[in-house]
Amino acid sequence: MNTAEPLPRDLLARDRKAEHIRIALERSVQLEARYFDAWAFEHVALPEIAGADVDTGVTFLGKSLRAPLLVSCMTGGTEAAARINRHLAEAAEAAGVAMGVGSQRKAIEDPTQADSFRVRDVAPTIPVLANLGAVQLNYGFGLDECRAAVAMIEADALVFHLNVLQEALQPEGQTDFRGLLDAMGDIAARLEVPVAVKEVGCGLSEAVGRALVERGIRILDSSGLGGTSWARIEARRSGDVALGEMFADWGIPTPDSIRQLGRIDGATVIGSGGLRSGVDAAKAIALGADLAAMAFPFLEPATESAAAVEARIARTVEELRIAMLCVGASDVGALRETKLVERSMP
Ligand code: FNR
Repeated sequence: MNTAEPLPRDLLARDRKAEHIRIALERSVQLEARYFDAWAFEHVALPEIAGADVDTGVTFLGKSLRAPLLVSCMTGGTEAAARINRHLAEAAEAAGVAMGVGSQRKAIEDPTQADSFRVRDVAPTIPVLANLGAVQLNYGFGLDECRAAVAMIEADALVFHLNVLQEALQPEGQTDFRGLLDAMGDIAARLEVPVAVKEVGCGLSEAVGRALVERGIRILDSSGLGGTSWARIEARRSGDVALGEMFADWGIPTPDSIRQLGRIDGATVIGSGGLRSGVDAAKAIALGADLAAMAFPFLEPATESAAAVEARIARTVEELRIAMLCVGASDVGALRETKLVERSMP
């Protein structure tokens, strides 16, 4: 349970994104529930492949990745955030995985902040994803701002995040979510790069995913329940811890969200929300994801160095490889076809 005291007033008065990073680093805002533990691979004692045969490579947004991993959208807009983004980007480039930046709203409104999001110089070859809150489309943002976000970081795609619970719990939250499906569809039809949609920890359902695909948005990131809790983070900011706990377990558990999205023809599914290892990533893919993404696990090392992030990515890939070998999956396509069983607990 989150028993920590609300943050002092002087901290509440500071920059929102800086507060998010500071509070997110407190482990008490991570959910205790481990929804991936309810799923297990059936071990294959005779996999009939060699460890050296395991190929974790995939293609995403027309670029080759050495592993099916994405460093989830997190930050930008402060000096500390600039350092974190560079560490994430350098490590992602070295490891050959994709990376997203945090919401660029601040930098659209104040271009002096743009540099804290720019990572192309250290990440020239990997997919880099731009990020905006979809709700901004009801608060003055349109195609021009979306184009500006993409151009700012030379992005391969634009990710809209859906965060209705987070906005509802923010004292300054923007909760007019009317008409966003059509608004995002309109942007997707006119933008020069693909559009993706993610949640921020409450999950996308099959119905929401299908509605997005019908409007031409084919990259869907579950960002389901089970990891970083924005209910808890916003409750720490507002001081209303009880309200945060009331909604801490609100949402679609990530394995369930991934399974729902995996049923949608023509969708590229990113599994995220509480993945904490390469085994979780393997499970996400076997449940229906094409790519696995994590935010919090890379945040802590990113406050240190690019090398620390790279080590965490390498460890994740190693765990994924071992899991693939032990189910006889020589590539990610085969892993996606591997069945998981619901685990009966001892
Ligand atoms: C986030 N997340 C996020 N998502 C987004 O689309 N735009 C953003 O600006 C942010 N900001 C942000 C800051 C911090 C500090 C964290 C930890 C996360 C959400 C993130 O991308 C992801 O969807 C969730 O955190 C769930 O993944 P994890 O953390 O459980 O692996």
